[in-house]
Amino acid sequence: MSPSTTNLYVSSHPIIATKLTILRDKNSSPKLVRDTMRDLTVLLGYEVTKDLELQKGETMESPLESFQGDVLKENIAIVPILRSGLGFVDGMLNLIPEAHVLHLGLFREKMSLQPVEYYNKLPSSPNVDSCIVLDPMIATGNTAIAAVHILKEWGIPGEKIRFMGLVASKQGVENLQEAHPDITLYLAAVDEVLDSHGYIRPGIGDSGDRLWNTH
Ligand code: URA
Repeated sequence: MSPSTTNLYVSSHPIIATKLTILRDKNSSPKLVRDTMRDLTVLLGYEVTKDLELQKGETMESPLESFQGDVLKENIAIVPILRSGLGFVDGMLNLIPEAHVLHLGLFREKMSLQPVEYYNKLPSSPNVDSCIVLDPMIATGNTAIAAVHILKEWGIPGEKIRFMGLVASKQGVENLQEAHPDITLYLAAVDEVLDSHGYIRPGIGDSGDRLWNTH
């Protein structure tokens, strides 16, 4: 994965490309979509977590001698945006088992494509140092913009917000970067076209429906 700008990373990893092909394939079953999303979480999550700071932890014993363990310095929250962000949760918790999981419910109003908040599990004041927002698709960018806005209002500075997606439209990336130039965005791919119904093309279709077998 190479940085395209200082705060946008778009994968060039061949395995990520082959896994994404499975997600794009309309014949992939919901189980295959979920399993593939979990694989992609680990591959992309490696990049997303690459610059987390460490501090020295307890002194421990290896079979040969004592050593000081490494632990993450910051308290981290993963923030899945319902429903599709749930597809990233298990994989991210495998990487950061101690992470807090703060669910945000935002849906896109069908006509306006504007986000509507219907669930917010943030505690009244921040109990974490940094957040990783999880949402596989960035179409118009409106939902992502709203989610980051909620976290900033809550008290997390933009430099401490990482956004993990899979596929974004070019326009969505531009909108999100314009609204929140201080966050870092990690993606598996950027697709050119956002259609008039707010779908990314070729995209993967409706990620919530693909994951949770709904229509
Ligand atoms: N959300 C999705 O799940 N897919 C799209 O293409 C756009 C938004």
